[in-house]
Amino acid sequence: MTDLTPAKLFSLDDKTALVTGGGRGIGAMFAEGLLGAGARVVISSRRQDQLDEAAAELSEFGPVEAIAADLSSEEGCKSLAEAVGERTDHLDILVNNAGATWGAPMREFPDSAWDRVMNLNVKGVFQLTVALLPLLESAGSADDPARVINVGSVQGLQAPDIENYSYSASKAAVHHMTRVLAKKLAGRHITVNCIAPGVFYTKMMAHTLDTFGEEIVAETALGRIGRPEDMAGAVIFLSGRGGAYLTGAVIPVDGGYSTTL
Ligand SMILES: NC(=O)c1ccc[n+]([C@@H]2O[C@H](COP(=O)([O-])OP(=O)(O)OC[C@H]3O[C@@H](n4cnc5c(N)ncnc54)[C@H](OP(=O)(O)O)[C@@H]3O)[C@@H](O)[C@H]2O)c1
Repeated sequence: MTDLTPAKLFSLDDKTALVTGGGRGIGAMFAEGLLGAGARVVISSRRQDQLDEAAAELSEFGPVEAIAADLSSEEGCKSLAEAVGERTDHLDILVNNAGATWGAPMREFPDSAWDRVMNLNVKGVFQLTVALLPLLESAGSADDPARVINVGSVQGLQAPDIENYSYSASKAAVHHMTRVLAKKLAGRHITVNCIAPGVFYTKMMAHTLDTFGEEIVAETALGRIGRPEDMAGAVIFLSGRGGAYLTGAVIPVDGGYSTTL
């Protein structure tokens, strides 16, 4: 009989994952969830000292390594892929979580805020995924494909009130790139899905939540902001055998913020 137990469907024992931006915020929530489900996790962001501190904290939940890279350039993406390849000959799960934002009124919106945001949020996701294809292909099979999990945003699903022009456009681009890559990579036994978070309290969202927190909660059907369990649950679902039959999906994890407003 088929084994449909949660252990079979969602255990990540023997899986290796890379979480970009995994040292803090939503990335650390993903990393902790993946470690708790049994995976070995590599976290990455720009500062080795901060990553090492985060890795020391996360190591309470399982084996974790930290590799610094700047993912806003192709060179940085290639160097991270190479460093991961020195540690493992396959990569089961890639979580493209690192991201940046910028807010400014329309007439003052700087040119540099387009480059900064698009280079990391869109080009970086593409270039890192491409650089890691050999390791992802080595991990995937028809029954249990390798997983690419992009991180979009509810701000890419609906027109935001705040003036974050390059950010919301970048996240809509990530959603569409998810579908494009899903189509191209399915035959190589790699699925590509996207988690579109609602509002979570992180460094990126601290100012917005401190200023508009009450309004945001009032507009959220479930009446609260997101918690680490909400992110961990989504990434474990998409990473486990139980999530093997989804590809090209953009899943809002937002308490109904985008789905019911
Ligand atoms: N928080 C929310 O409510 C929310 C909602 C929707 C979507 N998201 C998305 O969730 C993801 C995580 O955001 P967060 O809220 O956790 O924000 P955060 O706390 O600011 O985390 C961003 C992460 O990305 C890393 N990063 C930034 N620039 C980088 C670069 N050039 N190269 C490599 N890593 C870089 C940061 O580390 P360093 O700066 O040290 O490099 C950090 O680890 C982002 O894609 C964001 O757009 C967040």
